[in-house]
Amino acid sequence: MYHRSIHERDQFWTEIAGELYFENLDSSASTHNFDPSRGPVHVKWFEGARTNMAYNCLEKQIENGMGDKRALIFEANDEINCTEFTFRELLVEVETFAKFLIAHGVQKGDRVVMYLPMIPALPIAMLACSRIGAVHSVVFAGYSAKSLAQRVHDCKAKMVITASASRRAEKIIPLKKIVDEAMEICKSDGFCVNKVVVKHNADIEIEGVPHVEDVPFHSDRDLWWNESVAEFRTDGKPAPIEFLDSCDTAFILYTSGSTGKPKGVVHSVGGYQTYVYATSKFVFDLHAGEDVLFCTADLGWITGHSYGLYGPLLNGCATVLFEGVPTYPDAGVWWQTVDKYDVTVFYTSPTALRTLQGYGEDPVKRSSRASLRILGTVGEPISSETWLWYHSVVGDDKLPICDTWWQTETGGHIITPLPGATPLKASSATFPFFGIVPVLLDPKDGTEIQGEGEGCLCIKEPWPGMFLDVHGAHERYENSYFKVYEGGYYFSGDGARRDSDGYLFITGRLDDVMNVSGHRIGTAEVESALVQHSSCIEAAVVSIAHEVKGESIVAYVILDPSRSIEKRSSLEIHQRELITNVRMEIGPFAAPERVVIVKDLPKTRSGKIMRRILKKIAAGDVDDFGDVSALADPGVVDEIIKAERHAR
Ligand code: WT7
Repeated sequence: MYHRSIHERDQFWTEIAGELYFENLDSSASTHNFDPSRGPVHVKWFEGARTNMAYNCLEKQIENGMGDKRALIFEANDEINCTEFTFRELLVEVETFAKFLIAHGVQKGDRVVMYLPMIPALPIAMLACSRIGAVHSVVFAGYSAKSLAQRVHDCKAKMVITASASRRAEKIIPLKKIVDEAMEICKSDGFCVNKVVVKHNADIEIEGVPHVEDVPFHSDRDLWWNESVAEFRTDGKPAPIEFLDSCDTAFILYTSGSTGKPKGVVHSVGGYQTYVYATSKFVFDLHAGEDVLFCTADLGWITGHSYGLYGPLLNGCATVLFEGVPTYPDAGVWWQTVDKYDVTVFYTSPTALRTLQGYGEDPVKRSSRASLRILGTVGEPISSETWLWYHSVVGDDKLPICDTWWQTETGGHIITPLPGATPLKASSATFPFFGIVPVLLDPKDGTEIQGEGEGCLCIKEPWPGMFLDVHGAHERYENSYFKVYEGGYYFSGDGARRDSDGYLFITGRLDDVMNVSGHRIGTAEVESALVQHSSCIEAAVVSIAHEVKGESIVAYVILDPSRSIEKRSSLEIHQRELITNVRMEIGPFAAPERVVIVKDLPKTRSGKIMRRILKKIAAGDVDDFGDVSALADPGVVDEIIKAERHAR
């Protein structure tokens, strides 16, 4: 199949697409160009064919006899809220919400932002948008008001959908308040959304839960989901559906790059659904009506989009939506969830596994996990130690592990084993998926490295899950992904090593992008958040290895010398404030572990910060800095080392 996928590429993908509902599917209708020297870069799959992703997720499955099978299983933070939806029941919810969206002026192509916790309202709203051809843009509900505002404004959303609050273990996070703040920020930048829809999510009484009446509400702009959607459930009218061109936008999802501004990654309806359908089917070996996939990623990330929602549904399988945290009520909750719903495929991140590893085997062994067939991991390199723990403790020494390498931009798995078919090696994502031609480029001259070796991981041939554009910034699309190396390569930003058997091992990012607990964060984003502080005149951020988080952030900042901040107590206050700034500007997950106040940064004569040196200092590796002849003032290195010792 792999051979065919490469040599008869368009025919291969057209046949797979044909397993879903498409009108006018034609294998000669796909056109692509990865090489900017041959004209504008474009990726167009099945142009002219018409399809609808929500239709394929729901009606198509019901037609196939899955109507009464489970589609969505909601494992709530609080037991009392757990619910399940069959395909038929989910369709009713989606149709109802689709009618509501249309009634409130949302049309094909309009952007709708979701800022929601992991509750059924989120997948229902996403599917309803897909159904009517509206473009959803889900913003992870851990982002700050500022980050939310930036995304809402960038995609010019017509509507924002949120919840009164989000519940995580015993914590309640007031989401609606954060949305209000974001709407204020948008307003001051001259942008307003039409409507904010609010789902009650604090209906049961727990101490500290905001009651509905405590949630701020602006009656000219806000709508309560429950009250305003109800009438469409019983109106007896058919729900509209919009069949789209295969190349129309399905959704926009923001991700971090090496500049401060997040990139709105644009995915197409036809290509994306085909690729996500195929990767779910083959990598997770999904069988309609039988398999239950538990993907622990939040729907606010691409992993949640592709394998927490669309992938399983397109295959007629159930998906588990897990609201809480992996350690509540205790560290065995995921395995209990596996037993409770007979989960067959479990998909998580190395950072979560490392956290659970810290609780020992006991919480795992209290479950049977008898239903599990396949384990998956994604998001960061997995060490052989964690890989073996996953395999032996969770998988009882018998389950295959699919270490899947991919990115927001790629839509679905790119480098991954096929379970049962690919002999595994711990820590290796193994081989390319169907249709994928990965290459390792020499970072110096951009030539392809053959056989054993290490280099920049790039992809040579287009595949259907490939993103179409950076929203509103086609030039950025071409520059950051296709012009890094000449010759028509998609540049991933990751490094990889190929061993003598051809296995690929991902070594991590080569650019200024960090990976903290599987969250992708740009150094520039954190730096610009730090310099928002009135006392901070310059900042440089690096990441260092962290036992649980994979990487953690260390910030080096220069404070304004005109402010007298010599006293130690005042320095500590500044450090704390600077960390708060990052939490407020981006979100708590991006907070630096340590802020080191320095007088100067290691810069070249042309003013470029030598992060390589900071990275070594941050890691405590100060014996050999290699070639430092480019430094404008070599003396700063010793000073930073001193400041660093002080800060610890
Ligand atoms: C970056 C993409 C799409 C998955 C969720 C993250 C890192 C992803 C692996 C893996 C080593 C991995 C890469 C990549 N990454 N999967 N199996 N092994 N590293 O999506 O936020 O777009 O981040 O995550 O560095 O570039 P994302």
